[in-house]
Amino acid sequence: MKETMQKADLNWSELPFDYVRTDCHLEYVYRDGKWDEGSAIEDDKITISVASTCLHYGQECFEGLKVYESKDGRAIAFRPDENARRMAHTAKKAVMVAPPVDLFVDAVDRITKLNRRFIPPYGSGASLYVRPLLIGITGTIGIKPSKEYMLAVLATPVGPYFRTGMKPVRLWVEEEVDRASPLGVGDAKLGGNYTAGLRATYGARDRGFAEVLFLDSKEHKYVDESGSSNFFAITKDGRYVTPKSTSILPSITNKSLMEVARDLKIPVDNRPVEVAELPNFAEAGLVGTATIITPVYAIQHGKKLIQYGNPNDVGPVSLKLRDSLLAIQTGDAPDTHGWTREITLD
Ligand SMILES: Cc1ncc(COP(=O)(O)O)c(C=O)c1O
Repeated sequence: MKETMQKADLNWSELPFDYVRTDCHLEYVYRDGKWDEGSAIEDDKITISVASTCLHYGQECFEGLKVYESKDGRAIAFRPDENARRMAHTAKKAVMVAPPVDLFVDAVDRITKLNRRFIPPYGSGASLYVRPLLIGITGTIGIKPSKEYMLAVLATPVGPYFRTGMKPVRLWVEEEVDRASPLGVGDAKLGGNYTAGLRATYGARDRGFAEVLFLDSKEHKYVDESGSSNFFAITKDGRYVTPKSTSILPSITNKSLMEVARDLKIPVDNRPVEVAELPNFAEAGLVGTATIITPVYAIQHGKKLIQYGNPNDVGPVSLKLRDSLLAIQTGDAPDTHGWTREITLD
């Protein structure tokens, strides 16, 4: 690594997917029609009005992306511009003001640089997770959008989202709780969507399942996604299938994986996926920033248990896709798509 700063004293290979306090966060404020220059704050608390719209009316959204250390010590962010665009999409749906793409991407560089001693070492399986948060901070009592916004950006080192890492998990098909409606905000990264799904996620966990699989809320006929990731499956004739739905989050990992699949000559079908089709697939998995791919070895749908393999084996196509994308993200493979952004640390 070019810079000489000592890494933080952490057990990198045992890190959970959780918050570890780092050296600072950033705060940018939008007021009187413009964003300020942003400041780095050492304290990990933010101060806002008790009447802020984010607290009362849910004008709150966020993003999440990872920065990996490459073999030769470079810091590489994955598609931060895509996260910026998705935040803009979310903000529009919640009548909020989003930061411009350049400001967002610059904030990712800046927070990474300021917390570079928390970038997990290459090969540890961990990464620096960057979490930009956009909140309405105008104090009001009536239901109206904020005039002022804060973009707070934190960075924290994380291990895999599921404690099992690449070990296959079981899903529970949820039929009692809906996550999002077809004409609602399920395709936006609003905190409220996670609140809506939380009791289903924890209901599934209480039953011994790693995650919940939500269905479309209109007919309960199609697969939507899980509480934290998109869903995909591999057909018996080797096609990558992933649900198309207006109520799921457009995953940047999934979008990238579809490209990687095409590169590997794996045909891609992005279409409505009926829950009745689940038993026909050869492999299944969850896809998102947190894990890239979490293989799924079984899905409980009512009384029916659908199995794709055994709890110890990852399907060959899932493994190939995951390894190919991870290699791009960590700089081990050439980035032919121009997805990675090297962050200058000194
Ligand atoms: C509900 C939901 N779906 C899908 C994803 C995956 O999206 P991405 O690949 O952009 O992380 C996430 C994670 O951000 C999520 O929270």
